[in-house]
Amino acid sequence: MTTASDALAAAADAARLAPSVHNTQPWRWVVRGDTLELSAVPERQLREQDADGRLMVLSCGAALHHALVALAAEGWRCEVERPAGEPLAVVRAVEHTPADPHDMHRLQLLRVRRTDRRAVTEEPVTPEVLEALAAGARRGGARLHVLDRDQVLQLAVMIEHSGEAQRRDERMRAETAGWVGGERPGGTGVPASALPVENPRTTVAERDFGVPGTLAAGEGHDNAANYAILYGDGDERPDWLAAGEALGELWLTATGRGAAVLPLSSPVELEFTRAALRRMLGDVGWPYLVLRLGVADPEHAGPPHTPRLTSEEVITVEE
Ligand SMILES: Cc1cc2nc3c(=O)[nH]c(=O)nc-3n(C[C@H](O)[C@H](O)[C@H](O)COP(=O)(O)O)c2cc1C
Repeated sequence: MTTASDALAAAADAARLAPSVHNTQPWRWVVRGDTLELSAVPERQLREQDADGRLMVLSCGAALHHALVALAAEGWRCEVERPAGEPLAVVRAVEHTPADPHDMHRLQLLRVRRTDRRAVTEEPVTPEVLEALAAGARRGGARLHVLDRDQVLQLAVMIEHSGEAQRRDERMRAETAGWVGGERPGGTGVPASALPVENPRTTVAERDFGVPGTLAAGEGHDNAANYAILYGDGDERPDWLAAGEALGELWLTATGRGAAVLPLSSPVELEFTRAALRRMLGDVGWPYLVLRLGVADPEHAGPPHTPRLTSEEVITVEE
């Protein structure tokens, strides 16, 4: 049997595959005996687009979710503390039991999950799958509001404005250029291979990263896509961490059900569009992320996996 310490290090290793804003991977893990500590890494925070660190903490939440999935797949029962400051979370391996095949399958889903920026097909995500995704978000500690047709049109306008504001801002453009495009040999950022050659012609625009991509995105439209807001009750660090755990759980559920998820974070990065999203939620919740939900073309290969930092770069095992 592996020791708790080995299992925690392996879980942190699997969590390297978690999604993060611009693939910044802003997390660091310390294994100490039977505990695993997660901290944010401000050096990999997007200072212009994410000045308050919301998306950094949200990304760490997705990594925490993935680590817990990996521990469950090995049969480890864990307790998790989420202090309000740093570290963001402390996972304690409590008991080892025989692994459940369902949990092992979830670890496989984590390994195939990816961001798919290709056009979605004409086939919509079924109401039953949408409900499963909403349940996934609730399990993670947040909620999902699926937009109606009028709200999608409002979102399209909002995203046009947030995209335009970001394109006009020289510092934001420079920041994006530092993380996106090319081959990314340093193990972070979004490579050209994950970006469409040309953004699909959609009602709600995909993020314009301002650099050429090499991914064949297809002719399609987004007529059959659903757009949703991941949201919750609070706007503090523990809430953003929970939002990341919810995103991880929703995305794994989507991967298992053949649905493609594309996060669109530019409207939450700017205050005026974040306020507009909040109004869309009737002022009762805090928006964390906009998501496009659709069915990707099963006939063609999706984008290759994006690079990751090495284990040594993000995990420290203390004796
Ligand atoms: C908080 C957050 C915000 C993101 N925002 C966007 C976005 O606005 N546009 C986009 O195309 N991808 C977005 N992504 C997807 C990331 O770029 C992606 O997760 C990362 O490049 C790693 O690639 P992978 O998901 O394929 O593993 C976001 C992801 C997260 C977690």
